[in-house]
Amino acid sequence: MQKTTKALTVSALALGLITLATSAVAAQATTGIASTRHNLGSSNRSAGGATNPASGLARAGDIYTTGTDEICVFCHTPHASNTAVNAPLWNKALPGSTYTVYSSGTMQGTASLANNNMSLACLSCHDGTQAMDNMINKPTTGGNPGSAGWNATGSRLSGTWYAGTDDAEATGNTVGGALNAKIYMELGTDLSNDHPVGIPYCGGGQTGLGKTGCADQDFNAVTQGANATSFTVGSSSVVKENMRLYNTAGGLSVECGSCHDPHNSEQKTFLRISNSGSAVCLTCHAK
Ligand code: HEC
Ligand code: HEC
Ligand code: HEC
Ligand code: HEC
Repeated sequence: MQKTTKALTVSALALGLITLATSAVAAQATTGIASTRHNLGSSNRSAGGATNPASGLARAGDIYTTGTDEICVFCHTPHASNTAVNAPLWNKALPGSTYTVYSSGTMQGTASLANNNMSLACLSCHDGTQAMDNMINKPTTGGNPGSAGWNATGSRLSGTWYAGTDDAEATGNTVGGALNAKIYMELGTDLSNDHPVGIPYCGGGQTGLGKTGCADQDFNAVTQGANATSFTVGSSSVVKENMRLYNTAGGLSVECGSCHDPHNSEQKTFLRISNSGSAVCLTCHAK
């Protein structure tokens, strides 16, 4: 990708063309969360057909519901949000699952999801136990299930879940609107085979910022952001491209959101940066 862009820039300059800026603006219209798999509403890119409108190619189809054309509502609400999780204005109840965390003989830190960890926000869909339209504040006035979500009240978003043109329930991609193990998107509640989350940074934590503050020198330096509780690893000038660390009672912690930005439409699998050359891994691990 980078190579192509560079070649383009060079040839455009050689020809004295100044159309690049215009095409960049045009490309932006199709980017953003709306064009990703995290658009679970009826404006999903594969809604109404199994063809990807961007590429024109046939695709199995993303999962979406006909229940609303809103996008943010599956995760955020402007009011009455769930504060029991370290994710902003969170619109979902947590499933209350018990997770088996990663552990190994060479780890210096201990993983735990007992501190309102940000990862619980992702797991509230990705452990596969809770419906994706189970929200605190539905996109309507009135009839909102409240802090327990519709698990407690049964007040579900009306609409059908589809995967492309297929009924997502019939094809087994969702069960009752929850991600099914059939597709790899569901991590389940056994996280022992996944990169640790809820894990202190630096291999057992740190005594201060910067490289010297790291308990284990096999990790790269932590930088403090503009506000007292924001911390990252990485050197991009675009904040969201750096690997975020989350301030928890257990210290600065690596969570799903460290590597993934759930809104990112630039990288496959919502990674904060391209993992070409394993750049995601090498941002934290000095290997
Ligand atoms: C409201 C439910 C929901 C939440 C919350 C959620 N996801 Fe997802 N995610 C989905 C669904 C549904 C898919 C797959 C859709 C499909 O197959 O079309 C998905 C797909 C993904 C994918 C695969 C993308 C691809 O292009 O292959 C990644 C990675 C991912 N999610 C990570 C995360 C992370 C990290 C978080 C938390 C920051 C998160 N998700 C929170 C519902 C959710
Ligand atoms: C699939 C779930 C999901 C959807 C859909 C979603 N978000 Fe988020 N959002 C999250 C999670 C999880 C976080 C916390 C991630 C983090 O800490 O980096 C977050 C963080 C944010 C933040 C603060 C951190 C940042 O990176 O700027 C803003 C602002 C935000 N979301 C806005 C939106 C808006 C606006 C929409 C709809 C257009 C939206 N989100 C849709 C899951 C989602
Ligand atoms: C240390 C970094 C890191 C953390 C932490 C992390 N992921 Fe990922 N995740 C990745 C990378 C890298 C990929 C892409 C793997 C690939 O391309 O095969 C990925 C892929 C995925 C996928 C797509 C599945 C697939 O096989 O393509 C999902 C879904 C996902 N992650 C969800 C999560 C959730 C939920 C969490 C938190 C419980 C999480 N990730 C934590 C780095 C991470
Ligand atoms: C946000 C920072 C961060 C990123 C990005 C990251 N890691 Fe990690 N990783 C950690 C931390 C912290 C630990 C726990 C280390 C400890 O406690 O000893 C860890 C643990 C691991 C372990 C387990 C070590 C053990 O002793 O069992 C492996 C393997 C690993 N990471 C590989 C990767 C790979 C591969 C990638 C890229 C896909 C990656 N990491 C991305 C921070 C990160």
